[in-house]
Amino acid sequence: MLESAIPPHLRVPRTQALSTPPDYTPPFPAYCARFPESVKHIVMAIFGAQSRHVLRFVEGSSEKLSPPVFWEIASVLDTRNAQNLTVIAYWPSKAAYESWCSESGFEQWWESIDPEAEEHGWFKEIFLPPVERFETVFSGNDAPEGAAWLREEMSGMLKEHVYWGSMRDRLPVAQTDPLLGEGIPKKKDQDSRKQNLCVIRSGQDWSATLPRERSKYLETMHPVLIKGMDFLRDEGRDIGCYSCRFMNVLDHSNAETPTDRTFGLAFFDDIASLEKWSKQHKTHLDIFGRFLQYAKELDNEVSLRLFHEVFVLQPDQQQFEYIGCHSGTGMLASIADV
Ligand code: HEM
Repeated sequence: MLESAIPPHLRVPRTQALSTPPDYTPPFPAYCARFPESVKHIVMAIFGAQSRHVLRFVEGSSEKLSPPVFWEIASVLDTRNAQNLTVIAYWPSKAAYESWCSESGFEQWWESIDPEAEEHGWFKEIFLPPVERFETVFSGNDAPEGAAWLREEMSGMLKEHVYWGSMRDRLPVAQTDPLLGEGIPKKKDQDSRKQNLCVIRSGQDWSATLPRERSKYLETMHPVLIKGMDFLRDEGRDIGCYSCRFMNVLDHSNAETPTDRTFGLAFFDDIASLEKWSKQHKTHLDIFGRFLQYAKELDNEVSLRLFHEVFVLQPDQQQFEYIGCHSGTGMLASIADV
């Protein structure tokens, strides 16, 4: 029995058409995270630095301080040779996040940063989507990632996936809203917050693969993925992508050690640009095509886990702060010449 990605309490009469083909059954299963009805907003906070300092706030938070329900560390070396070390943390409400910010001492410390005295930059990218502006899709239902750590349960097998347009069909707000963006401004802009900014975090986890699949993944899938991520990072602005970081998830206990997990984190001017890249651009078609071939070569016995989470945000659901970072960092690129 297939389920719809949009849970009953978020369904409304549609004014925007679905793309699901008639009598559609997807060729392989996928799942999404189901949150309690009481969860109205999700908070994903990215705290970035070129040092480990920021970790002490999340590591040291006691239960009384509304600590994040889930957090992990990830890093990427950017094109300016800066190592960007980030903590990505999730809360099930704005109130919990705000309470942690003030009670843990984080806010006070952040406000006290003196850019002149720092040897490296700091950044904060906070996303506060209401659940209507959020969707997830998972290749399996056994290993939560990201916001799915806030779930009540995982869904059953979803109907809306493996056809172009399925991402939009899973998104509750897209039932009635075309989610048009502003387009990337040609000139410098004063504000990096954008109408219907689209954020995707698309993850890969090959920790459960056996040696044959593992080497196939690392030798044939991973390089194609890197090409796609490099394209979005280096040439993405022409197709509506502000920023793309292809990040290695690091070990919690030793932030020097990479794990068998990566993700692409990209900011698009709107969901249409992301759809267009995934459906039409050679770099994602190569990723997609390579994956279908990979599954065939493994007789569909695939242990690689894939997931993504997508937010489409109004300006007041985004917060960006960059202190002493170079002008190509994240959404800073939208307010500075790069
Ligand atoms: C959709 C493969 C990485 C963006 C898909 C689908 C597959 C796929 C099989 C259809 C999924 C479904 O609906 O069930 C892969 C593989 C990847 C990968 C194997 C890496 C190993 C990425 C990355 C991004 C991305 C890094 C963006 C940063 C998208 C988007 C869709 C999609 C936006 C949905 C398109 C739509 O529904 O209209 N991909 N992908 N993918 N992928 Fe990827």
